Amino acid sequence: MSSIDVLIEEKDVRLRIKELAAALSEKYRDGDVLLVGILNGSVFFMTALAQEMTVPIEIDFISASSYGSGTESSGNVQIVKDLDRPLTGKNVIIVEDIIDTGRTLKVIKEMILSQEPASFDIVTLLDKPDRRVVDLEADYVGFRIPDAFVVGWGLDFDQKYRDLTFVGVLNE
Ligand code: IMP
Ligand code: MG
Repeated sequence: MSSIDVLIEEKDVRLRIKELAAALSEKYRDGDVLLVGILNGSVFFMTALAQEMTVPIEIDFISASSYGSGTESSGNVQIVKDLDRPLTGKNVIIVEDIIDTGRTLKVIKEMILSQEPASFDIVTLLDKPDRRVVDLEADYVGFRIPDAFVVGWGLDFDQKYRDLTFVGVLNE
């Protein structure tokens, strides 16, 4: 049987999201913000972040597939669903659930920068710095966590547990 231990309580996640939203709203007080979520994991974090922001925002989504098999991303990242609109003049904020090896976001970052947005930031709810294999850092990080497989707040194991309102460590 697998069990899930609470790593970050719901109230702490929500408080941190408010802080991130406040920092981003301050930085982008002149507007033209486009939140770009990486499907599917970013959805829960992105909606909570968007609702806490105090400047007008637009949203869009990208879907990338990088997992060959197992639980580690391969270097072979493919864009499965691209952005719906051009990025010209937009202050793009990439919203991600977790940065692990960094491979997925590195490819997406290069793709976005090639479209010359007005500005570019990465915000991630979770970061596992010990696992990084490429040179890629977020501008805003919710929580730095140790190398463990976590679920909840959009993060899944085999597509399950995304809806958990805490961040938990999956023990098998
Ligand atoms: P990266 O390319 O290795 O940085 O992969 C990042 C993606 O892997 C995240 O967006 C998640 O979808 C997934 N991932 C990485 N670590 C975890 C985890 O601990 N739990 C669930 N999914 C994870
Ligand atoms: Mg993901």
